[in-house]
Amino acid sequence: MKMAIAFKDVDLNFNLTINQTKLHRVSYKRLFYRTFDKKRFVYSFSFLAIFLFMFQILIDGNSCSNVSTCLSGNCSFEDTHKYPYGIPIGNGSRLPIPGTNQRLPEVLIIGVRKGGTRALLEMLNLHPDIQKVPMEVHFFDRTDRHALGLEWYRHQMPFTFEGQLTVEKSPSYFITPEAPKRVYKMNSSAKLLLIVRDPVVRLLSDFAQIEATRSEWKKKPRSFEDVALLSNGSVNFQYKAIQHPSLGKLAPYLCLAPIYT
Ligand SMILES: *[C@@H]1O[C@H](CO)[C@@H](O)[C@H](O)[C@H]1NC(C)=O
Ligand SMILES: *[C@@H]1O[C@H](CO)[C@@H](O)[C@H](O)[C@H]1NC(C)=O
Ligand SMILES: *[C@@H]1O[C@H](CO)[C@@H](O)[C@H](O)[C@H]1NC(C)=O
Ligand SMILES: *[C@@H]1O[C@H](CO)[C@@H](O)[C@H](O)[C@H]1NC(C)=O
Repeated sequence: MKMAIAFKDVDLNFNLTINQTKLHRVSYKRLFYRTFDKKRFVYSFSFLAIFLFMFQILIDGNSCSNVSTCLSGNCSFEDTHKYPYGIPIGNGSRLPIPGTNQRLPEVLIIGVRKGGTRALLEMLNLHPDIQKVPMEVHFFDRTDRHALGLEWYRHQMPFTFEGQLTVEKSPSYFITPEAPKRVYKMNSSAKLLLIVRDPVVRLLSDFAQIEATRSEWKKKPRSFEDVALLSNGSVNFQYKAIQHPSLGKLAPYLCLAPIYT
C-alpha cells in the first residue's frame, strides 16, 4: 500500500500558553471551535458552496438535472455526486444511475483525528473522477463491522462509473492496530492518505471535541490532566486523543510515497 502525507495549515497563533487550571474554566465548545479554526472553515466552505453552485449552473444545462434523461442512460461522472446512492424514483426506492456499480474503495483517508480529514475528502470530491463515501464506515477499525465481510462493505459504497475512484475516510483506521492488515487483505495496492497537523494543537483540539461531546451528553467535565496523565504522572497512552499507531504494525504493509505540504 502507498501512503501519502499532507499537512494541515498549522495555526501558530493558537494560544499554547493555556495551562491546566485555565483549561478547566474555558468553555470546551469554544475551545473546540477555536482549535477547529472555525473562521477559516466557514470561509473556505462558503467559497466552496458558491463555486459548486456556479459550477452546477454551468454543467446543469445538459446533465442529470433531468432525472429521466439520466435514467435513460445519459449521465456524466458529476452526476454520481448528486446521486451517490441512486436516483429517488418517488416511491421510496432509488434506481442506480445506469452504468454505475458499487465498488470497493481504492483510496482511504486514514487520519488523523482533527487533522482536516473531512475537508480533504470534500476537496478531493470536487474532481468528477472522484466519488467520496459520504459517511465514515468504520469497517477496518470495528471488529463487528469487519466481520460482516467485504460484500457488506461494498454495499455501503456509492454507485460509480468505471474509471471513478471511490474514496472512504475513517480517521480511526490510523490508530487501530488491526486496520493495516485488513486493508492490505482487501487490496494490497490501495492508496492511503494521511493528513497531519501540529501535534500539540491537534491533541488539544481532540481533547476539546471529546469534552464538548461529553458536555452535550451532560457528562461532567474533566481536566486535561485527568485524561492525559496516569495517577503516577506517566502519559496515558490509552486515552483516545493520545492513542497512536505502532509503526511496527504499519511498516510491513507500506512502501515509500510522497509527502505533500
Ligand atoms: C446525451 O447527451 C448528449 C450531449 O448532451 C446528446 O448529444 C445526446 O443526444 C444525448 N443522448 C441521449 C440518448 O439522450
Ligand atoms: C418502486 O417502484 C419500482 C419501479 O416501479 C419498483 O421496482 C419498486 O419495488 C417500488 N418500491 C416500493 C418500495 O414500492
Ligand atoms: C486495488 O487498487 C488499485 C489502485 O490502487 C486498483 O488499480 C485496483 O483495481 C484495485 N483492485 C481491486 C481488486 O479493487
Ligand atoms: C505508571 O503506571 C503505569 C501503569 O500502571 C506504568 O506502566 C508506568 O511505568 C508507571 N510510571 C512510572 C513513572 O512509574
